[in-house]
Formats: sequence, C-alpha cells, structure tokens
Amino acid sequence: MASLFPTLRYGGDYNPEQWPREVWDEDVALMRGAGVTTATVGVFSWGLLEPSDGEYDFEWLDDIMDRLHEGGIRVILATATAAPPAWLVKAHPEMLPVDVNGTTLAFGSRQSYSPSSSAYLEHALRLVTKMAERYGSHPAVEAWHINNEYGCHVTRSYDAESAAAFRVWLEARYGTIEELNRVWGTAFWSQHYSSFDEVGVPSATPTFGNPGQNLDFDRFSSDALLRLHRAEHEVLRRITPDIPITTNFMGFFPDVDYWAWAPYVDFVTDDSYPDPADPDSYVVAAATRDLMRSLGGGKSWLLMEQAPSAVNWRNDNAPKAPGQHRGHTLQAIGRGSDGALHFQWRQSKAGAEKFHSAMVPHAGPDSRVHREVQALGAELASIEGVIGEGVDASVGLVFSWDAWWATRQYATPSRLDYVAEVLDWYRPFLDRGVGCDFVSVEATDEVLAQYRVIVLPSLVAVPEALLERLDAWVTAGGTLVVGRQSAILDENLHVRLGGYLGALRRTLGVRVEEFAPCAERAVTLDGSVEGHGVDWQEFVVVDDAEIVASFADGLTAGGAAVTRREQGTGSAWYVATRPDAQLAGAVAARALAETGVEGLIATPAPGVEAVERGSVRFIINHSGTEQTVTVAGEGLTLAAHDAVLVPRH
Ligand code: GAL
Repeated sequence: MASLFPTLRYGGDYNPEQWPREVWDEDVALMRGAGVTTATVGVFSWGLLEPSDGEYDFEWLDDIMDRLHEGGIRVILATATAAPPAWLVKAHPEMLPVDVNGTTLAFGSRQSYSPSSSAYLEHALRLVTKMAERYGSHPAVEAWHINNEYGCHVTRSYDAESAAAFRVWLEARYGTIEELNRVWGTAFWSQHYSSFDEVGVPSATPTFGNPGQNLDFDRFSSDALLRLHRAEHEVLRRITPDIPITTNFMGFFPDVDYWAWAPYVDFVTDDSYPDPADPDSYVVAAATRDLMRSLGGGKSWLLMEQAPSAVNWRNDNAPKAPGQHRGHTLQAIGRGSDGALHFQWRQSKAGAEKFHSAMVPHAGPDSRVHREVQALGAELASIEGVIGEGVDASVGLVFSWDAWWATRQYATPSRLDYVAEVLDWYRPFLDRGVGCDFVSVEATDEVLAQYRVIVLPSLVAVPEALLERLDAWVTAGGTLVVGRQSAILDENLHVRLGGYLGALRRTLGVRVEEFAPCAERAVTLDGSVEGHGVDWQEFVVVDDAEIVASFADGLTAGGAAVTRREQGTGSAWYVATRPDAQLAGAVAARALAETGVEGLIATPAPGVEAVERGSVRFIINHSGTEQTVTVAGEGLTLAAHDAVLVPRH
C-alpha cells in the first residue's frame, strides 16, 4: 500500500487569522520545534477571504502560506466553504437550514446552509475556483481539504429547495410513482401518492411516518451533502489535477454513508475525539481507525483531527492523563493512519472554542501539553518507516448505514443501538489482538475471501445478494457469526416472510418466529459457551443446526440461544440475544479457534490492545492502571497509559 505522503504527517488545524502577525513567526518556530510537518489552514476563513460579494482578500493567506513554506511546513489547504459569511446569508436568507419542526436556523455559528441550497453552492464554487487558481501552484500545498465535517451540525434540511431536490432524487430512483408506492408500502394509512409533486420531506407528523420515506430521506440527505462535496471536487480536480483531495469524516457518524463517499477522496481522513474520562472510549476509537482504513480499501488514511487534551463540547471536559494522548495517537498509527493531526495548533483566545485544548495551550509552550506534543512529534519521526505499511485483518464485520438507519425507525420490536451492537462484536477481537476490517454490504466475493471470520452484528436490513454471497463463502470454509435481528428486513425495510433471517435460514439452519425483548434483564444460558444474553430473546426454530446454548430462563426458556451449523468446509453461528462481553468473547474465541486464527493476546487485559502494522507491533495500555499481558508469547508489564513499540523481524 503506497502512501501519498513521504513521512508520517504531524500537526493540526491552524487559524492564523485569530492572531496578530507577530505570533505567526513564533508559530512557525514552535511548529518546527515540535516536529510539525503539516498545518491545515483556512477551514473557516470564507468571511475573511471574501469579505463582501465577489471582493477577495488573499493577502493574509498569501503571507502565512509563504511563512509556512519558508519554515518547511506543508499545508493542507481548506476550500473554506464550511461557514458561509454573513453577507451571503443576508442576501440569500432562503439558504438557511430548516429543522424538522420548521424552525429556520439562524446565522451566527457555522454550517449556516441547507445542503440543497443553490445560492450556497454557486457561491461556494466561485470561492473554490478562486482558491484553486491562486494556490494550486503554491509549493506549500500538499492536499485540498474540502469544506469541513459535512453534516456535523446540519445533516438535513426541511426547506423548500430540499423538498424539491428530494422529489427529483426520488423520481431518478424510482422512475414511476407506482414504484415509489410499492417500495414505500403506501397502501397503508391512506399514504398513496398519485404523482411525485405530492411527495414531501418527512417533517413532524401526527404519529409514525412512513418508513420508506424516512429511509429515503436519510439516503437523500447523505447524497445531498455528497453532491456538494463532488461539485467542489470537480473544480479542484479540473484546475489542480495533481493535488490530492480529501474531506474529513467523523468516524461512526450516523447521517452520512461514508461507503458512498470514500470513492470521492484521494485519502480518507477522520476526526476523532474519544472521551478521556471514559475507560472504554479506546474501543470505539480503535473500531473507528479500522473503519477508516476499510473505507479506503487500500487508500491512505490520516487522522485529521484529535484533541491534544480536553474538548469543550461535553458537559464535563476531562483533560487527557499524561501518556493518554500518546496512546490515542499510536493507536491510530498502528491501525494504519499516515500521521496524526489535531484540532488545533494554538488554543483560541476568543470564540466558542476557547476552552478546547490545542497543541500550544493558553499556558504557552512551557506547559505539560506542549511538552507532550513535542515528544510525540519526535517519536513519530522515529517510526516513520511504517508509512505505507498495511495492517492485516482476518475478521470482517459487515457495517451498513442503511442498516443503521433501519434501527432509527420508530415502531420496531425494541430500540437498538446499532453502533453499540457492532462494538459488542468488535470488542472480543480487539481484546485478543485480532485484526478486524469493516466490510460493506456490497463487498464482492474477492473482498469476502480475505477473511476467515465474518460477523453480521445486528444487520437489520440487508440486500439478498449479500446473503447469497455469504452462503457461498461459508461453504468455501468461512466462519460466519450472525447477531440478533440480522436480515429481518430487505433493503426497502420490507419484512422477510416465512420466519426471519431471509436466505440466512438456509446457511444457519434456523429461523426466528418471534422476538421477546426483556429490557435491562440478563438471560442465563445453558450449554457449551459461557455468558449471558442481555435485553433480548428470540423464539428460534432449529431446522438443521447444533444447539450450542439454550436460554435457561425468560419467555423462551429451553429454546435455542446460540446455534452452529457446518456447511461445506465452513460453519455458521447464530446468536439469538444481545451477548454480554463473556458470551461475545466465548463465541469469538470458538470462531477463531475453528479457523485457526491466533490473536496477539492470549488472555485479554483491561484497556490493552496490540496491533501490528508492517514492521512495528504496537502494544498500548489505555487504562489508568498498570497491566501485565502476554503479547505474541512475550510477557510484559505496561504502566498506566503507556505504550510499547516492538520492531518485528
Ligand atoms: C470538529 C471540527 C473542528 C472543531 C473540533 C472541536 O468537529 O471539525 O472545527 O470544532 O470539532 O472538537
């Protein structure tokens, strides 16, 4: 896997416009001292770059670009379109986003635009064109950063232009109104439409709205943002064909389908803010790194933003303990990131983010945070050999935004937290030091063939084609683990009849007749795997499978809880409950054992992960206490928040 970058990138968002120019020289000197390679500039600068309609002021940006270049700092240059200026909003108030209740969201923070606003797009593209023409040949520029965190605050808008664009999108998707009626199942509560003109956005309704309409609005809203990204991308590609382009993703962000976006970036970037006060936050962070690597399917990925210490947007904003930030950073590098950038370089003196930590904090460079920043910069320089090296994964977890959106619908058997379910199944592999990728529902046979174990964690809605491919993959020797409620719906959210699980009924040898949610109650299991079910039981009919464990109590007492069936040279497991950590661990361990996959960690230790990237093994203790662990047969003791890098021979 070749990287786009010569060495690991290190640095962060830099907002020089917040500071007098005397500070700029100090910034460049401090960046050099901290091993900074890269600054992301101009992210929210539209209002200063174009202070009035069509009048540009690039002088300050020219100046800082030159100073950074003279200091040897490369620039990821933002297109500056994430926060439209006041004059534009004043001239085009119709561009403001409207929420589900019809409230217009006013100017005065950022992202003050509806994703479907033509006025916004026209003015954004005019600015992007100017930026590309002016800076495309500036020697400091190493990449374009389009917009910023599309959808972070405004994922969707219910304004008139969005409604019109939604109708166009629906007509392109369905062709005829009859097809829309069929897919949405409108022969229900008198929801039938006679023409596309009658269809609106799913605003606040008297009770549950139409599931098809909700799902399509989820899809449309992701596409509406992607359309903006692609429009900027086209301008940049045309004017500056050789400069790599990205836009920063937000990990497991609910509203944007990053599988659809990844083809339109040259390298994937991610913004990641694990809560330092949550001892488990390293788990979702690890999964996020693996997701980013997987989205690119071999492209470089780069951690674009992280906080050196506290953020400012939780109720209580804990700082990172000494060493904790190093652990987060090395986790990202170990899982494939080609560097670590931050929000932000110098902590703001004014504005809504003044209490957000930065690489140069309010206390100045003579501070704990900045000393850690310097040490980390030096450490990354010492391991830059990992650049371009890959991360092996023998487990694939199928992840789908459509399935996530299906779980957000109302009137379901019980509320299901999709990402929590994914992490239930990710964690046992993380704990054992087993490499995981995330896999799209459109994964080809070649992609599936890379994995020994594939997990479907509560993949509620799934196209039939994937189930057919997985059936063949099991026959060819794979071990499939299917979590509760998977495949109960097709991609249109229509129920699969004849016992849930669709085509998986054949592969698993079971079908599900009924669900039995049992909120906040643990269910005991009897059988050859240890652990409990949580919140949920199912009435499982076993046609042709081994019962590995049964429910010992609850409504389905005596019924199958965990099943296993051999098919060809593979096997398929079904787990008819939400597993606690022990049960997920036991099933994962059995699945690994039967495929001969050995994790780096034989006995999991709290907060400890181990991952191999090319020539380096990363062993990280994210916990606040000392841990002793055996990694690849070697025992070691790690102090609280310590990490050890071991060269691989
Ligand atoms: C990100 C955003 C940055 C900054 C940061 C604070 O979501 O891209 O501009 O606001 O959060 O944590």
